[in-house]
Amino acid sequence: MDNRPIGIFDSGIGGISVLHQAMQILPKEKYIYYADTKNVPYGLKNSSQIKEYVYNAASFFLEQDVKSIVIACNTATSVCIKDLREKYDLPIIGIEPAVKLAIDNCDEKRTLLLATPVTIKEKKLHDLLEKIDTKSMIDLKALPRLVEFAENEEFESLKVEQYLKNELSKYNLNNYSQVILGCTHFNYFIPVIKKVFPGEVKILDGNKGTVNRLYQILKTNNLIGMNEDLDVKYYFSGELVQRRSDLDKIKRLHNRL
Ligand code: DGL
Repeated sequence: MDNRPIGIFDSGIGGISVLHQAMQILPKEKYIYYADTKNVPYGLKNSSQIKEYVYNAASFFLEQDVKSIVIACNTATSVCIKDLREKYDLPIIGIEPAVKLAIDNCDEKRTLLLATPVTIKEKKLHDLLEKIDTKSMIDLKALPRLVEFAENEEFESLKVEQYLKNELSKYNLNNYSQVILGCTHFNYFIPVIKKVFPGEVKILDGNKGTVNRLYQILKTNNLIGMNEDLDVKYYFSGELVQRRSDLDKIKRLHNRL
């Protein structure tokens, strides 16, 4: 048993969708959620910048004596999960697009994977596809502006719908039966994503897989927490979130999930 907190990291609000899941599966833990709101979006930055930001967050977590870190950001995972694990001596769990799940559930139609430009470009995703998507059933599409819409809590406006329609206009959307959300921010857009596809599409994300992995790792290392109550603290780029308006925003986001 270990009652120290778990650090959950994202560039912004996307990782709250992972935290939300963790709170259901591991309800007796303390959580520290770190959103790097000063530097979001990561998906349009270069990898050395992203690495620096993630290392800063990791140092913050170590100062808080966390027992484990979850990188609830596909972009940061793509860029530096390996380096993080080499640098820090505690269990670090990353998130990656649910490619395996998509291939396991695949019918004759194709799957569209949506993510940030960095995730789409990074070698990590291409290595994963090479290993799992052996029949090339998955197409990739970067959506550079969706993170910005999410940070502004603009999830269902006509502007968002139009943006998605424009970005996807080159694709025959009838060809797809599955969409992989390869960015944790995209979880807030599930209704509008479903709306722009003409037929029914199954939406897959890596959240549950990531939290199950966290659970397994804590269990194997005897690190499961048994706190009396669930305890979550939120930090924006290292500053404890205390403002009513920010706490209300976080509450609204949980309610959307
Ligand atoms: N939530 C991050 C992800 O999963 C978004 C990255 C960004 O800030 O662009 O990729």
